[in-house]
Amino acid sequence: MLVAIESSCDETSVAVLNGTDVLSNIISSQLIHSKWGGVIPELASRAHIESITHVLNAALDEAGIGMGNVHALACTTAPGLAGALLVGTNFAKGLSLKYNIPCVPVNHIEGHLYSGFLEDDTLQFPAVTLVVSGGHTSLFFVESYSSYAILGSTRDDAAGEAFDKTAKMLGLGYPGGPLIDALARQGNPSAIEFPRPLLHSQSFEFSFSGMKTSVRHYLQTHHPDGVPHNMLPDICASLQAAIVDVLVQKTIRAATEYAASGIVIAGGVSANSALRQEMAIAARKKNIHFVAPRASYSLDNAAMIGFVAQKKLQAGDSPSFRRLDFEVNSKALRMHKHGSAART
Ligand code: KG4
Ligand code: ZN
Repeated sequence: MLVAIESSCDETSVAVLNGTDVLSNIISSQLIHSKWGGVIPELASRAHIESITHVLNAALDEAGIGMGNVHALACTTAPGLAGALLVGTNFAKGLSLKYNIPCVPVNHIEGHLYSGFLEDDTLQFPAVTLVVSGGHTSLFFVESYSSYAILGSTRDDAAGEAFDKTAKMLGLGYPGGPLIDALARQGNPSAIEFPRPLLHSQSFEFSFSGMKTSVRHYLQTHHPDGVPHNMLPDICASLQAAIVDVLVQKTIRAATEYAASGIVIAGGVSANSALRQEMAIAARKKNIHFVAPRASYSLDNAAMIGFVAQKKLQAGDSPSFRRLDFEVNSKALRMHKHGSAART
């Protein structure tokens, strides 16, 4: 049995895995940030400290085991909020010493990268994974459990920020993604023509900071005295369509150019209903296997961290996982040197 701990941002999560079977995956989301309109790092650290023992106990209970049955630990060490990462990592190191079991450091982005393989064991390498959240918008070419390469990232805002910042402008609240998604269902996606940044560029880079500027410009021009309520669905549907168009077209182009057999979407924005629907349609047209992991594997969660840890243990580097000499790194995208992707 392996116990995995995730605490990189505003979710405290602990999972228990038997091999790659997930026996429990408890996710405690910190609600405290919503009134501030964004994650406050110090509050996140404190909330992790308060909840981590309870979340561990809940995960052990649901799996029906005690710490005596656990043979290995895993924790997220990068990237994320430094204080938040420290809480989970030091908690894991403490358990490792107390129970004399190894602890595997895992990069959070690698958790998202391989979450499609956790969801669907028929998915084959190579795959193209779109990691899209409040902090990241990146495309990866994933060749194996030990080799992947980044194809492109956002130059400025992440797609989640575009949802959150425009929701704030529209007075909808935080986080904005789910609110815009819900309103967009009643709106017309072609009502307003918002720009699709870098859609036709040959690179796999994204840029979303212009999105909020164009929404602001639209609001100032058409609704200087405030947005009428009945316009909200059309604005949300049009904005969402612009973001989804860019994400889908770039991902499909990457999968085609790199001859991927699968496409995975991961991270908070991958919960978006239009993104799931449009990506599924586009992948089917190209005959590419598409996997959108369930919410509990695509939002920040410990199951994906445990899954990566099991793959690392299987690769056979166990002695190093007893040294506990790893540190947290708030920025690192990768922890290892990886192979480079060959374009077809
Ligand atoms: O992965 P996540 O929980 O945390 C980060 O690493 O940021 O992602 C949170 C982001 C927020 O920006 C939120 O607005 C967005 O994911 N999000 C959505 C939806 N659900 C969450 N965006 C669009 N549509 C959704 N249904
Ligand atoms: Zn994440």
